[in-house]
Amino acid sequence: MIEQKYVLRDDEIPRQWYNLAADLPTPMQPLKTPDGQLVTPEMMAAIFPMNLIEQDASQERWIDIPEPLLELLASWRPGPLKRAWRLEKALGTPAKIFYKDESTSPAGSHKPNSALAQAWYNKQFGTERLTTETGAGQWGSALCFSCAQVGLECKVFMVRISFDQKPYRKILMETWGGTCIPSPSNETEAGRRFLEQYPDTPGSLGMAISEAVEAAVSDKSGKTKYSLGSVLNHVLLHQTIIGQEAKKQLALAGIKKPDIVIGCAGGGSNFAGLSFPFVCDKIHGDEITIIPVEPQSCPSLTKAPFAYDFGDTSGMTPLLPMHTLGHNFVAPPLHAGGLRYHGMAPLVSQAVVEGLLEPQSIPQLECYAAAVQWARTEGTICAPETSHAIAATIREANKAKEEGKEKVILFGYSGHGLLDLSGYEAYFSGRLEDYEIPEEEFRKSLYSSLEGLPDAEAKKSGKW
Ligand SMILES: Cc1ncc(COP(=O)(O)O)c(C=O)c1O
Repeated sequence: MIEQKYVLRDDEIPRQWYNLAADLPTPMQPLKTPDGQLVTPEMMAAIFPMNLIEQDASQERWIDIPEPLLELLASWRPGPLKRAWRLEKALGTPAKIFYKDESTSPAGSHKPNSALAQAWYNKQFGTERLTTETGAGQWGSALCFSCAQVGLECKVFMVRISFDQKPYRKILMETWGGTCIPSPSNETEAGRRFLEQYPDTPGSLGMAISEAVEAAVSDKSGKTKYSLGSVLNHVLLHQTIIGQEAKKQLALAGIKKPDIVIGCAGGGSNFAGLSFPFVCDKIHGDEITIIPVEPQSCPSLTKAPFAYDFGDTSGMTPLLPMHTLGHNFVAPPLHAGGLRYHGMAPLVSQAVVEGLLEPQSIPQLECYAAAVQWARTEGTICAPETSHAIAATIREANKAKEEGKEKVILFGYSGHGLLDLSGYEAYFSGRLEDYEIPEEEFRKSLYSSLEGLPDAEAKKSGKW
């Protein structure tokens, strides 16, 4: 019988997070203010608790996970590593396809790995309430679940288009005791401004972030903090248990190292979580192709420049050194809502600049075709975001077949799509289309967003 699942015991859960910042050959550039000053921890303290700010700036390679947090994470971790042998058979590929299944978490994706950590650290700090944004609804659900676990209130600004496409996500959030409102909303100044400027906007993660940050800082008691679901170093850090578990589990399968590691990338957290422990091995000499996958219609890594830009639309966050389509960019209303973000995590962006990663962008029809092939072979219904990783995996497995090579492919199954069926319905009814940003729109967004901001230098060691 083919072995299909590689499972670790509860006490084999990783006890530390891995911090790529300690190993990057060319360090990530610092966060800045629009006038070019360095951002200090005190400036960040209005929105984040100091314990997470310290983690964000840490250059330590390993950071201990506190025992009480480990106990909470162990309710679903370690997660399984699985072999997709039925897909292998259907493709007739000599490649071995393994995937790390993050859909088994309470909220159905990788997002609780950081949500629980952020809620826990906020609770220790004395925070009473968290605000956040959500694109696909996965992050908002994860944070509401996590706040319920540690005893915090939670308010979620959900990107309008996803709010309309996925009504059940709101009910999940409410069931866990949170509040969910569509963004842009009338509840914040930023939201009212967006609605006035763009009355029919589908919303964007950048707009929702502006609203959530404003909602946190406008509570003058200091007891409301903001929580971000991706992009920042500490969020990526919390996700690295995924890749560490995967390494142990590949060893159980008799695999020394994968040839190819693939993850979909919106803000970069699940991709980083799976891949950074392998990026570390690559830095130290292993030959591994590591592929972040993004939508063709929102191609920050494959098309956009590396620049200093705001993380949100109204310019409330510090400037991040990242690949960015410009904070004014509003992606078309594709169903992979979690991949509709204008920027990419600075650590992922720096690894791309360094040449350690080989990003791909894939059109959404190919992604849905991959998701359907997956469902009809492996049986599970994936999130639209995850379908990007599956589509790239199928491309690589087909390439291995053409080359007659028995490659080992590892990909991140970042979430299930059981609350994303409207996207599948749109695909089956032929209403989905591929979309490439017109060059003029791309240039306009970049120019209007980046004009006057400090330049970011794309520094690299030249080793890759
Ligand atoms: C299932 C799933 N995968 C991937 C992503 C992309 O986010 P990130 O790049 O932070 O992993 C999301 C975001 O909402 C998601 O819900």
